[in-house]
Amino acid sequence: MGKISPSMMCADFMNLGRVIEIFEKTGVDYLHIDIMDGHYVPNLTLGVDFCKTLYENTSIPLDIHLMVEKPLFFAEIFSRFKGSIISFHPEVDYHPIHTIEVIKNSGCRAGIAIDPALPVANFVHLFPQLDMVCIMTVNPGYSGQKLLPFCIDKIKETAGIVKDKKFNLEIEVDGNVSWKNLPVMRDAGANVFVAGTSSVFGDEQGLEEGIKRFRRIIGETDG
Ligand code: DX5
Ligand code: ZN
Repeated sequence: MGKISPSMMCADFMNLGRVIEIFEKTGVDYLHIDIMDGHYVPNLTLGVDFCKTLYENTSIPLDIHLMVEKPLFFAEIFSRFKGSIISFHPEVDYHPIHTIEVIKNSGCRAGIAIDPALPVANFVHLFPQLDMVCIMTVNPGYSGQKLLPFCIDKIKETAGIVKDKKFNLEIEVDGNVSWKNLPVMRDAGANVFVAGTSSVFGDEQGLEEGIKRFRRIIGETDG
């Protein structure tokens, strides 16, 4: 059964309490938190205090996506939120295995996010250490972008490797997980979906109905 991880940078910050109420009522699986440093990506969004507020006010696990140039430094900061998933972009880390160990030894789950431009094959040797692999389906840094179509093949490739090697890890997709793209990403083998502006936060029927619609689609199978 697929999981929903709404992208909190797309949420209505003026009504965050109400947003969390709806997410608890509809049973979303994670809260996707995009952390940017203005270097790895030319943008700055959410921070530690935002995470602390959520962590202290809901039991929904945090799905923290570090788009930063110094993953270990940020992993040590955000691993205080025990039970969270912390994903980073390994190509900018000198010692990704060490960063993964730091995350896991702190009581968090470890993930990597793979930039669209980088081949999955570069990171397969890390898969046995991981709890999640996030396939970026847009260039990291901004919401509201369009899917890079070749990334669907990267989801299929990752799902094939995970199945063949029986790795116990979740396959997340992040970027333009729209109503149109969602079934394609689901059938390609993704099982965690970052829901953003092109689905639940942009749904004309509102957030609650958007989550229910999303849940229906990820629960369905093709044919
Ligand atoms: C982009 C972020 C995404 C973004 C998703 O770098 O990692 O989580 O918020 O937003 P949409 O769904 O609009 O692409
Ligand atoms: Zn993200």
